[in-house]
Amino acid sequence: MLSVEEVRSSLERAGQLHVLQFWPELSEDEKKTFLSELSQLDFDELREHCRGAAEAATRSTTKVDQKMEPVPLEFIGSVVKSDRDTINEWQNEGYLHISENQVAVLLLAGGQGTRLGVPYPKGMFNVGLPSSKTLYQIQAERICRVQQLANMKHGSKCIVPWYIMTSEFTLDPTKKFFEENKHFGLDPSNVVMFEQRMIPAVTFDGKVILQNKGKLAMAPDGNGGLYRALVDNQVLEDMQKRGVKYLHVYCVDNILVKMADPIFIGFCVSKQADCGAKVVQKASPEEPVGVVCRVDGVFQVVEYSELPLEAAEQRLPGGELRYSAGNICNHFFTLGFLQEVAQKFQSQLKQHVAVKKVPFVDKDGNMVNPTKPNGIKMEKFVFDVFQFSRRFVAFEVAREDEFSPLKNAAGAPLDTPSSARQSLLALHLRWVLAAGACFLEAPGGATRPRVTLEEETLVVCEISPLVSCSGEGLDLLLKDKMLTSPFLLDEKTAKQLLK
Ligand code: UD1
Repeated sequence: MLSVEEVRSSLERAGQLHVLQFWPELSEDEKKTFLSELSQLDFDELREHCRGAAEAATRSTTKVDQKMEPVPLEFIGSVVKSDRDTINEWQNEGYLHISENQVAVLLLAGGQGTRLGVPYPKGMFNVGLPSSKTLYQIQAERICRVQQLANMKHGSKCIVPWYIMTSEFTLDPTKKFFEENKHFGLDPSNVVMFEQRMIPAVTFDGKVILQNKGKLAMAPDGNGGLYRALVDNQVLEDMQKRGVKYLHVYCVDNILVKMADPIFIGFCVSKQADCGAKVVQKASPEEPVGVVCRVDGVFQVVEYSELPLEAAEQRLPGGELRYSAGNICNHFFTLGFLQEVAQKFQSQLKQHVAVKKVPFVDKDGNMVNPTKPNGIKMEKFVFDVFQFSRRFVAFEVAREDEFSPLKNAAGAPLDTPSSARQSLLALHLRWVLAAGACFLEAPGGATRPRVTLEEETLVVCEISPLVSCSGEGLDLLLKDKMLTSPFLLDEKTAKQLLK
């Protein structure tokens, strides 16, 4: 740990001496904690960061829409438009790599989940399914199942390691939650948590903001902080040691996420891609999803916060949105690509500017909760490495099967706990009906032979991922069965049905 004198002179050189303004007022314990926080800063980097943030605040945003073009069709695969044989080929290829221990999943879980507004990591959220499972448990069980399916197909005993990027906000509670839940049946040595860096929020004139008299206002460095965190924590070495070649990277809040999706992996590998992104058709011009496109001939995602409405609203002659490839934050990378990014490009990633209301202590020592934006948080985005790809592919999937994010608290119009729950229940109901079962008694009491898909919001039907993670195998269990709502198919019920 540095001495306070050392910190003082480094802060002075970085133009940030105000940080120690309240030092004499701090207790011994507070001084120790603050000094330890400040000692971890790289002061040259801090100076650059503050300068860059202040400059970014004055810079007018460059207009991307003049240079944008949609992804050309030859770079898009589609699960929606492909025939069953082609999908099966991709799936078989995916399972083969999974069975050979070449596939890992990587969860981006360092975000603060401000919009959802819960004081714990989003993955611990329970959306109110009959099973009460949290997002983390659902994801863990999907990993178990995908391993099991690969083993059944190939007689292997494979492992899909689960890498989880957390931040100062989420690491401890996530660790504790996994321990308390015995890692949901996974071997703890195959669940690797690591932490991304935090960076200070800065005023418009380039001064670090004090959250209180002895603490900087820090925020995670965006999900693009992944690449630096992979280096900081030697995660790529761990992957290499395990023989991992392909990564499926995803964000925490999509309740329908397919873990280590064999079809997506198989598609990307068969196209010899080093980098890929799943997309869904954007629902409306205003939908808050990034769009996968080309800018100046280079693949990238233009984030919703940076896409001008006029561009978002453009339509093709047939009426479809011109920029319709909605990013669902589900990416494929080869390990080789990540190694190259880590070595050569990680420090060149673009810094995106988010202007936010950051609570702070003013120069008279009063705590202020600002009513209008007062600070800048700089963030890197995970998809900003697409530009370095040698072979990029996009993969279109069906929204109702694969995308229903939990972003907002109950009461918001979109992407809430109830919309996430309903999307999962509706998907499971479709699987069950496709497997040849029917619901005997529709809610409301009437006895009718079957429920139609239009009635899906009335029927509660949940399938444990440990029984089926994409509808597979349900015909064996459920064909011609008469079910009643609520129906929960877990491993125990599945065993009874097989008797
Ligand atoms: C993200 C995508 C957006 C996409 C949408 C789909 C990015 C930058 N944007 O937007 O293009 O259409 O999801 O739902 O990917 N995270 C970290 N560390 C951070 C910040 C975030 O790990 O510092 C994680 C979050 O925990 C989450 C994921 O990144 O799992 C996405 O973050 P979030 O802020 O929810 O992104 P969106 O704005 O919804």
